[in-house]
Amino acid sequence: MKPVDPLKTLKKFPDGFVWGVATSAFQIEGAATADGKGPSIWDTFCRVPGAIADASNGDMACDHYRLWERDLDLIADLGVDAYRFSVSWPRVRPEGTGAWNESGLDFYEQLVDGLLERGIKPYLTLNHWDLPDALQQHGGWAHRDTVHRFVEYARGMSKRLGDRVTSITTHNEPWVMATLGHESGIFAPGIKDRATAMQVTHHLLLSHGLALQALRADGVRSKLGIVLNLSPMHPASAAPEDIEKTKLEDGRLLRWYMDPLFNGTYPDDVLAYLGEDAPLISAGDMKAISVPMDFLGINYYSRAVISAAGHWDVKKSGLALTDMGWEIYPEGLTELLVRMDRDYNVPPLYVTENGGAFKDRFEDGRVHDAQRTDYIARHIAAVAEAMNQGVQMAGYMVWSLMDNFEWASGYEKRFGIVHVDYETQARTLKDSALWYRDFLRQQKAARAHTSASALSGPVTESATVLTGV
Ligand code: FCB
Repeated sequence: MKPVDPLKTLKKFPDGFVWGVATSAFQIEGAATADGKGPSIWDTFCRVPGAIADASNGDMACDHYRLWERDLDLIADLGVDAYRFSVSWPRVRPEGTGAWNESGLDFYEQLVDGLLERGIKPYLTLNHWDLPDALQQHGGWAHRDTVHRFVEYARGMSKRLGDRVTSITTHNEPWVMATLGHESGIFAPGIKDRATAMQVTHHLLLSHGLALQALRADGVRSKLGIVLNLSPMHPASAAPEDIEKTKLEDGRLLRWYMDPLFNGTYPDDVLAYLGEDAPLISAGDMKAISVPMDFLGINYYSRAVISAAGHWDVKKSGLALTDMGWEIYPEGLTELLVRMDRDYNVPPLYVTENGGAFKDRFEDGRVHDAQRTDYIARHIAAVAEAMNQGVQMAGYMVWSLMDNFEWASGYEKRFGIVHVDYETQARTLKDSALWYRDFLRQQKAARAHTSASALSGPVTESATVLTGV
């Protein structure tokens, strides 16, 4: 497999294409009980014996709550246009209802102002999984009241920051919260019940739609959207049962979210499959869910191979795997983006997360993470290829700015382009960060020097860019 280096092969992405790095509150902030923050469901889940691979928690994480200025300098040094981060709901409203916490709100005010001072666009996510635990005690996302608490939270945050943040994402990856959090139970809040999980999907989508309506009525200027985790699904064989199962799994991961958001309906085949586990839907819900968005974020890591027999052994394909055991499959990103554009009336698309965990070695102050650089470069090339096929892309963000708390995997999996020493909290740019910085410098230089007429040309210099993949 020939490595692709877009630094050499990509001519220029269009002006206005947004390059970024992403994080989320629970994974980096630490300061779990500081300055009036309430517990989130992840604080609670981390205490469940066996829930987290290394028995760790988010109490300290990257200590970003204290080191945020240093981290913003680091982000600025990378030369990105945008920083995607999330707000910890229990930091700003500890119980999820009732009193707001001024210290928590101040933290995000400082963060946003600090980004703007450094010329970086703030991309804010409201819900990256860390629901206030107090709301979980009242049923959490399975309870319809939480929908209204979320709308209040969205309005409160947009009143504080909506004049300064470029974009507001309602939810990050509803599939993960619903399915891993409420069906398999391997993520917080650790519930194992399919009917509950499906009701959660509906409440997450409904709260998204109602929040968008409320923010628009409030006159918010930020662009509004949602972020989904999507993968192309490939059958393990040409057997009819594998193909059938693939169609269903595609329904459960992709169409279950895309159809209501863009067409105002849940897919019939999935509803039939769910039977009594299908969610309760009230009059007007579907109309609210399908309110138009300004952008759609897609988090892409790999494809899925589906077999009717159940488990698929990823090693069978012979593709290289990341440290998460996920196949490295950049062409799946092109396939996915092209399909989104073909099947749905989508607004501008962002890749809001993409990156890889690898077994990094910190040696003499350096991390030579060639695999991660190759992963990112090839996925950027895959975005370029989608654009050449006519997809309107707005931006690309690397997951993640720095190593952090990788949910049930704890600190064992490292996704950062910046290395974090959890003993000292020292940050070190890995080779992939140096590569990304150079790549962005090259893009900016091209922006400055390209004449307007050249902008209409293809993003890649030649079609050969993807042939080595
Ligand atoms: C995504 C999450 C993100 C991170 C990456 C690896 O599902 O949104 O927080 O954990 O996976």
